Amino acid sequence: MGDIGPFQVMAILERARQLQADGHDVIHLEVGEPDFPTPQAIVDAGRQALSDGHTFYTAAQGLPELRQAISGFYQQRYGVAVAPERVIVTPGASGALQIALSLLVDEGDEVVMADPTYPCNRHFVSLLGGRPLGVAVGSEQRFQLLASDVAQAWTPRSVAAMVASPANPTGTLLSAGELAALAQACRVRGGALIVDEIYHGLTYGCDAPTALSVAPDAIVINSFSKYFQMTGWRLGWLVVPPELVEPALRLAQNLFLCPPSMAQRAALAAFSPEVLDELETRRAEFGRRRDYLLQALPQLGWRLPAAPEGAFYVYADVSAVTDDSFAYCRRLLEEGHVAITPGADFGFNQPERYVRVAYTTGIDRLAEAVARIGKLA
Ligand SMILES: Cc1ncc(COP(=O)(O)O)c(C=O)c1O
Repeated sequence: MGDIGPFQVMAILERARQLQADGHDVIHLEVGEPDFPTPQAIVDAGRQALSDGHTFYTAAQGLPELRQAISGFYQQRYGVAVAPERVIVTPGASGALQIALSLLVDEGDEVVMADPTYPCNRHFVSLLGGRPLGVAVGSEQRFQLLASDVAQAWTPRSVAAMVASPANPTGTLLSAGELAALAQACRVRGGALIVDEIYHGLTYGCDAPTALSVAPDAIVINSFSKYFQMTGWRLGWLVVPPELVEPALRLAQNLFLCPPSMAQRAALAAFSPEVLDELETRRAEFGRRRDYLLQALPQLGWRLPAAPEGAFYVYADVSAVTDDSFAYCRRLLEEGHVAITPGADFGFNQPERYVRVAYTTGIDRLAEAVARIGKLA
């Protein structure tokens, strides 16, 4: 437990709530979830599932028709054949990450990952008695772990490397070539590659390639939380190579029994053309917000060293205006009532230089936040 830290942003969130309770108008740019409600057709399918009495456990691997739908989605969106037998539906990407890491990590084993990274990754590895090996990656490589980093960081105790594309907190992508090279770097060392694709679908002006198109042996994580805007339904999935299906299922059975049954029924509606159309409209709105921030934030003296191409985050270098991003975030909250996330949440690689802004609110509110921050500068 000693190695498992809280989200630093929780302290910010808690204080933001207090300020709000005291009547202040707080702008939330710290929240890592879409502000859009779940599309109505999905909600209706969930409601119908409850009325129809789908309140029981399902198969631990998830409903066969949902695994079939996910398999179809890979075919339709990426032109990649993924057998439904390789898909395991989980309680969020969080459940999928726990299964993936539990498959691979024994006590003392290391997992190579980028620093900065999504903080839970480190903590899941620690929970298993493993050691997260964070590699400090800079803006010159878009804050992404590359095959050369794997080669350099790998030790006889390393069992896997872990990446995300688009990434949290930076929104940067890995190309198909980079994913292939990462997979090969792990493969030749007898290790596995885990690729978190939870922000797939949320890219602007480009598409993110799935690791499965270049590395069929990769373990791929995804979720209904972000693109499908179903955070509270707690539903995700992972795709594993055929030889890992049986052990992954044993883990799924023991850890979760099954993913939520009504959420699975709701998610069956997620792939309909109408819902996908709606999600594309929302993606365009995220894109407009991103474009706004890319031109507005530099006017505050913030630098954007790696163009964010996906997710809904901007990772900004604020070293021109502060030498302590945590204190800066506190000040923006206390004096400007704008909540953003300090770099400290994402690792140990110069966190004092960086902040993460989530554009999970409308452009009018983003503009108001920028104006307030500008006044404080
Ligand atoms: C990179 C990444 N992976 C996984 C998760 C977990 O998401 P969920 O469990 O809601 O699917 C998140 C949530 O913010 C994330 O940013």
